[in-house]
Amino acid sequence: GDNTIYRASTTAPVNIAVIKYWGKRDAKLNLPTNSSLSVTLSQDDLRTHTTASCSSTFSGPDTLLLNGSPQDVSGARTQACFKALRGLRAELETANPSLPKLSTYPLRIVSSNNFPTAAGLASSASGFAALVRAIANLYELHSSPTALSQIARQGSGSACRSLFGGYVAWDQGSAADGSDSLAREVAPASHWPEMRALVLVVSAAKKGVSSTTGMQTTVATSALFRARAEDVVPKRMAEMERAIAERDFDAFARLTMRDSNNFHAVCLDTEPPIFYLNDVSRAAIRLVECINAAAGKAVAAYTFDAGPNAVIYFLEQNAGLVAGTFKTFLGHLDGWQTELGNKLAGQAGVA
Ligand code: PMV
Repeated sequence: GDNTIYRASTTAPVNIAVIKYWGKRDAKLNLPTNSSLSVTLSQDDLRTHTTASCSSTFSGPDTLLLNGSPQDVSGARTQACFKALRGLRAELETANPSLPKLSTYPLRIVSSNNFPTAAGLASSASGFAALVRAIANLYELHSSPTALSQIARQGSGSACRSLFGGYVAWDQGSAADGSDSLAREVAPASHWPEMRALVLVVSAAKKGVSSTTGMQTTVATSALFRARAEDVVPKRMAEMERAIAERDFDAFARLTMRDSNNFHAVCLDTEPPIFYLNDVSRAAIRLVECINAAAGKAVAAYTFDAGPNAVIYFLEQNAGLVAGTFKTFLGHLDGWQTELGNKLAGQAGVA
């Protein structure tokens, strides 16, 4: 028989949304109630590295190690990704019977993050993107990033955006089977080489309310949510794409901050209310507001996901002002990590 151990490795970067995904219209397929748009961070700073292997000599169920700890892969999300990838491999094997039957072998997946897991730092995004691409490489699928985004989306919605670098939209789509709910490149990182992101680790503790539970409660109870999904976000998606196309930082920043605030307002409007921001997060918001007021235009933008950590976007020419002010006023705080994520994918001296 075939005793070969087949293996493939890849990395996937974290992405941070500037127009947030919050709400599912189909919880099983992870179909969103609104489109979203994100910026992919540098792989040098925040990324998941994943190796997938399979062999006829492996026995037992598929396994996944994350940072050395065994993870439960029996959940519907992970199973959906495995099933979709095995299905594509099985098609290749049917078309070419001389190929080894990798689709029938147990999988061993080994992953590591170079940043705190589940601290609101979008670990599920890079995690599922890396998992899907590692297995796709192992199976020699040659699927496009868009095709893989449809699979990664079923693992974690935001993961579909981590298949691309730069500025990435996730179009919500309207098909019931999710075939048009896909990620798309809005612009490569090289389109706006001056863009920088500072990730402020306010707390590396595991987040309080998971995004899945939070979204479910918000959709079920928040009255503000409907206005966000139907009215606010569709307009902002178009404005954000224009701001990026024209490299209009003032518009990019103001849309980013207003969308983060709208998302956290919808969380507060949820019953029971969800609090992701803390006093340090609010201090970071006030600091950005001060920097921008002094500059007479937006030169910095804050955004927060499902946790208290801040991501601050700014342009390289304002690095001294923005990063310098943050260091001066908030640099004494525990868990402050200015080294992380200060450049975008494709800009940080690709090794
Ligand atoms: O991909 P999920 O299910 O972890 O949801 C991510 C939700 C936010 O990070 C808050 C927003 C986003 O678009 O990434």
